[in-house]
Formats: sequence, structure tokens, C-alpha cells
Amino acid sequence: MRILGTNSCKSDSSMLAAYSETLGAAVMRRKTAIALRAARVEAELASKTKSEFIANMSHELRTPLNAIIGFSDMMISMSDIPPEKVAQYSGHIKEAAEHLLGLINSILDASKVQAGKLAVDPAEMDIEELIEGCQMIIMPRAREKRLLVEWKPSGELPPIMADHMRIKQVLINLLSNAVKFTPEGGRITIHSELIDDGETVRIAVEDTGEGMTPAEIDVAMRPFGQVNNRLNKKNEGTGLGLPLSAALVRLHDGKFGIESEKGKGARVFFTLPVKGPRQKPGRN
Ligand SMILES: Nc1ncnc2c1ncn2[C@@H]1O[C@H](COP(=O)(O)OP(=O)(O)O)[C@@H](O)[C@H]1O
Ligand SMILES: [Mg+2]
Repeated sequence: MRILGTNSCKSDSSMLAAYSETLGAAVMRRKTAIALRAARVEAELASKTKSEFIANMSHELRTPLNAIIGFSDMMISMSDIPPEKVAQYSGHIKEAAEHLLGLINSILDASKVQAGKLAVDPAEMDIEELIEGCQMIIMPRAREKRLLVEWKPSGELPPIMADHMRIKQVLINLLSNAVKFTPEGGRITIHSELIDDGETVRIAVEDTGEGMTPAEIDVAMRPFGQVNNRLNKKNEGTGLGLPLSAALVRLHDGKFGIESEKGKGARVFFTLPVKGPRQKPGRN
């Protein structure tokens, strides 16, 4: 930089330059220290989340695997197993294997979503028929907990353009959460309605369970996020259901939301445009 003026001005300016250089260096050092600390905190958080996830995952994978190994061992070592036992043990093995498959699929889906590689494949479907099917799937577990599951089909919903398999995945996630986080004797209500002058379908799953605070909802919506409550047994579930469901709804150009009050239950809803997503399927 050229400095114009008298000699004294010149020395003032050079002092000023030296001073600002020192100050600049100090600011830079401070900024670097802050950035380093932030990076360290972030890395610690990521590694904590990762190690918690690995701990949860290994438990989740080991439980069904142990069941598979245990029941097949019994079948191998026992001679003359009564036929009804064979059916029973094979049933347990199949159930554990299906559970494992579901788990691995949701981990793969979650990583596809994160990489922006998950595409939906919309086709005409009957949403009320899907709700009925999902309700049947969760009923055995709901019955065990003496939960009342209510849904009165309006019978008026038009066929919609959506990815049947993905919407089923969303609804099963929401219903199984409602079953899991509602204490015995509670109630689950499914609402399905046409809104926006017939352009949108809204499905809501309401329960009388544990509920969440706004901060807990934020945690629940994060990948692998689980909220501590008395029904959330340690190491159960992966914490992927809600973020994955929200991502699948967004891929349909729908909205996803949770309304809840701690101790009073939760209402999780999603909307789907009747005509299907605007973007072309397979865009991702
Ligand atoms: N209906 C609900 N009522 C209360 N808490 C819920 C409900 N649904 C989800 N949560 C909380 O959000 C967390 C994340 O849910 P989700 O992503 O489905 O994972 P997971 O079911 O595997 O724990 C749950 O662990 C639970 O703490
Ligand atoms: Mg879940």
C-alpha cells in the first residue's frame, strides 16, 4: 500500500500498519482456536452418536440372530421333535429373520436418503385399503397391550398417486410407535380425510401415550434420535423410523408433522397430494 503525506504521518501509519497486523494475527489465532474447538465438539458429538448407534445396532442385530441360532440349534440337536414344535420353532426363526431384514432395509434406506439417492415410484392406489392392511398388521401387538385401535373409514377418499410400499412403511412406522409408546389400556385413533378442496389426503395417528416436549420432538426427528421415557426400553429400536417416514413423505411432496404434549399423547400426521408428487419419479 502507498502511504502519502509527511514523514511523521508515515511513521504513524507504519505503526498503525504494524499494530493492525499484530491485531489481525491475534484475531486469526482466536478464530482458528474457536474453529478448532467447534470442530472437536462436532467430531465428539458425531462419534458419540456413532458409537451409541453402533451399540444399539449390535444389540438390535444380535437379538434376532441369537433367536435364529438358538432355535435352529434346538432343531438340529433334538431328535424326534414333535411336528407342532417344528412349526413353532420355524415360525420363530422366520419372524426373527424378517425382523432382521426390516432392520437392514431401514438402515439402507436411511443412508440412501442421506445421499439423496432414494426415489419413489408412484402408482394409483387405494389409501383406505392400505390403512386397513396396516391396522391388521399392528393389531396382535395392540391386543397384547389392550389398546383400543379406532379407525372409521370415510369410504370417500379418491384413489391417489403414491408409492404403495413407501406409504405402507410410513404408516406402519407411525402405528408401531403409537403402540410402543402408549401404556396398556390406551387408545390409538387413525384419521383419514380429504383436505384442500379435494387435492390432498391427510392421515393422522393419534395416541394417548407418553407424548413428547417440543425439544424431544426435535430429537425424535433426527436420525437415530430416541427420547428417554419409561416405555422406551434401553436399546430398543433404531431411532430411524420418524426421520425416514418424514423423508418418504417429502419425496411425495407431502407434509409431515408431530403435535404432542408430554404425558398427554401424540398426533403424528402426514399429507399426500392426490395427484402424486410434482417431480418426475426417479429424479433422484
Ligand atoms: N407416538 C409417540 N409417542 C411418544 N414418543 C414417540 C412416539 N413416536 C416416537 N416417539 C419417540 O421418538 C423416538 C424416535 O422414534 P423412531 O424414529 O420411530 O425410532 P424408534 O421407534 O426406533 O425408537 C422414539 O424412540 C420415541 O422416544
Ligand atoms: Mg419407530
